[in-house]
Amino acid sequence: MSVGSGGDKTLEAICYRRGSLQLLDQRKLPLETLHLDIHDTNDAWDAIKEMVVRGAPAIAIAAALSLAVEVSNLASFDGTSHDASVFLSKKLDFLVSSRPTAVNLSDSAVKLKEVISKAAAIAKEANSVFQAYIEAAEVMLEDDVTSNKAIGSYGASFIKNYLTDSKNITILTHCNTGRYTPVLVFYFICMVDWFLSYLAWHGFLPYPIILPEIAKYNSVTGLTRTIVIRIRYPDGVILIFLAFLNSLATAGYGTALGVIRALYADGALERAYCTETRPFNQGSRLTAFELVHENIPATLIADSAAAALMNAGRVKAVIVGADRIAANGDTANKIGTYNLAVSAMHHGIPFYVAAPLTSVDLSLSSGQEIVIEERSPKELLHTRGGLGEQVAASGILVWNPAFDVTQAKLISGIITEKGVITKNGTDTFDIAGFVRKTAGNL
Ligand code: MRU
Repeated sequence: MSVGSGGDKTLEAICYRRGSLQLLDQRKLPLETLHLDIHDTNDAWDAIKEMVVRGAPAIAIAAALSLAVEVSNLASFDGTSHDASVFLSKKLDFLVSSRPTAVNLSDSAVKLKEVISKAAAIAKEANSVFQAYIEAAEVMLEDDVTSNKAIGSYGASFIKNYLTDSKNITILTHCNTGRYTPVLVFYFICMVDWFLSYLAWHGFLPYPIILPEIAKYNSVTGLTRTIVIRIRYPDGVILIFLAFLNSLATAGYGTALGVIRALYADGALERAYCTETRPFNQGSRLTAFELVHENIPATLIADSAAAALMNAGRVKAVIVGADRIAANGDTANKIGTYNLAVSAMHHGIPFYVAAPLTSVDLSLSSGQEIVIEERSPKELLHTRGGLGEQVAASGILVWNPAFDVTQAKLISGIITEKGVITKNGTDTFDIAGFVRKTAGNL
């Protein structure tokens, strides 16, 4: 992992073009914007473990793309298509070992392994398997962006219908479930440009061509205010891409935060409350940052203030993300989620989980089977999630689970890209039934 060159990437969490990957160092936000070069899967493993990139879907995508970069830049590979498939599978297993709780990482590895083995079965050479892998990893991002947008709109309409006072909705959220990356926009633009450049080079297009495109790619990426300017000259092909993205906060997707954004866009949100989310402070550093950047009326609270806020009648609904959802709806999410769910139930406030179906793990019948990552004591003993100065007494023992499990009985609904899963008078959700019923729906 090395420090990137900065440039015009502003607040894109993941900057990818074929053969190169940079990750915004989220440990440094909101005070510093720094991108780290990820050259290979070793760099990505460290970046995921150390929380340079975090959030369940984002780590899955960063991991997948890091391997795409590694194989794109392989000087040579001395082996058959089968060897290529073994090589890729081992790398994926290694990446999955970086953080255990978020299922998206292992889910994407399983799906990518399927692609690899299909490719290896028909490919004559290793390179075809690598190409199939790279393309599949790139498509993963696009799917993720699309599903996030759907979560936002399903969640917003469901909550507006459910809450009677649908113009003054106040939402409490936890951790950070914000936007993760417009990477493929660059890839698609490049594909189009390579083709146009080829035509231009062979005299089929007039010169120079200046194509300012405003919001053309919004339907693909969910990006707002994207401007791309391409300039070509007759005696060579010079391409200039300018993508003015509205900082981390404005791409208009994310899971729980996507629902908040959609409610705000509909004029239904009075205020969002975000918790600090100690010890890593994803709430005060990242969610607060995104909310401020988007001018969404928002208030930061200490984690320990949540019950008092609910008791004061200031929260109409709680929405959180998920790292792994068991088949019955039990949900693992950032530590402190369970506290919020218990408090919400006590105060009669609906509690929603917003997550793509890739966060569901149907192999687990309940949340008791979810492996919870325990992180370094340093995150509690020192400020800034372990990166700052020591504040706790030396010698004290520490228990630092990164996640907790909220039982399905405390959850009012699970907002997915295919709709909202609700309970039918039982304490648990029938997620497998929902998946079957909605299979094939876009
Ligand atoms: O430890 P983190 O920051 O990776 O934990 C993140 C969360 O718990 C999020 O709520 C969850 O991954 C959903 S992100 C869309």
